[in-house]
Amino acid sequence: MTFMEKEARLTGHESWGSYHRLRIFAPEVAKRASPGQFVMIRINESYLPLLRRPFSLHHRLGEEIEIFFKVVGQGTAQLAAKKEGDIIDILGPLGRGFSLPAMAEESPALLIAGGRGIAPFLFLAHELRRLGQRLIIFYGGKTKEDLPLAPELEALGFDLRLSTEDGCLGFRGMTTELLARELPFLSPARFYVCGPEAMLAEVARISRQWQIPAEFSLEARMGCGFGVCYGCVWPIRRGEKIEWTRICLEGPVFPGEAIAWEKKK
Ligand SMILES: Cc1cc2nc3c(=O)[nH]c(=O)nc-3n(C[C@H](O)[C@H](O)[C@H](O)COP(=O)(O)OP(=O)(O)OC[C@H]3O[C@@H](n4cnc5c(N)ncnc54)[C@H](O)[C@@H]3O)c2cc1C
Ligand code: FES
Repeated sequence: MTFMEKEARLTGHESWGSYHRLRIFAPEVAKRASPGQFVMIRINESYLPLLRRPFSLHHRLGEEIEIFFKVVGQGTAQLAAKKEGDIIDILGPLGRGFSLPAMAEESPALLIAGGRGIAPFLFLAHELRRLGQRLIIFYGGKTKEDLPLAPELEALGFDLRLSTEDGCLGFRGMTTELLARELPFLSPARFYVCGPEAMLAEVARISRQWQIPAEFSLEARMGCGFGVCYGCVWPIRRGEKIEWTRICLEGPVFPGEAIAWEKKK
């Protein structure tokens, strides 16, 4: 069930350069949230930006939720200017999130994040840990500034594999290169993936090669977030057929084998 919290109060704001984390008092959304779902945020009372913007549920803390985002345009810049005590209008939780194992599995869960793709994984990592599931977080970016949550995840005791393209933190290279290098020691495993499209496609290739089950959090421009505008379609397999599917309703998380990557080229 989806809730509109028109008067949700901001209770915290942290920032690291262009990355921000907002904590929001939203009890109805928090109560129903699961990892991988998202919220649509109306950023302003005015018409700029006109449309709500989608953000993954980064974490849930009692009656509060958190979002974690990178400033990339007008909407995120305005959101980054919000202060504790400000009121925002949110709709959620929306979509279908990651599937959690019924009980802890012996093989590790590998959470693979590129840059702001780390957003849904704090919530997921806590839920997996609660189940007693062994997990490892692969967290990569162009440079150190793209991994602002690394110290916190480390302090929380999560097993991390960091990578930066310029080599200033962790492995030098792409997350997918580090994953391919470590996989012989970690497989069999289960992948949870969120990040730029090129990274998702490469992890999909690796998961097919190693026959590792994988779930991908997909992104698209979203006009509504609840199935009305058809702005968010991805090519999804249904048996022999491929259908352009609204990821806001049926996703944003899909199993790798359902995604027709070849149609995205
Ligand atoms: C389900 C879902 C969950 C998301 N969760 C997060 C999150 O947790 N943290 C986060 O930082 N971002 C997340 N995003 C992306 C976020 O919604 C966009 O970055 C944001 O809407 C951009 O708004 P803007 O007004 O700042 O940028 P705009 O001015 O609208 O666009 C700026 C630039 O970003 C590009 N862009 C905008 N939206 C997207 C998109 N969805 N996919 C690819 N490129 C885009 C545009 O093409 C343009 O180049 C999510 C997107 C989806 C669909
Ligand atoms: S965002 Fe409107 S149909 Fe998906």
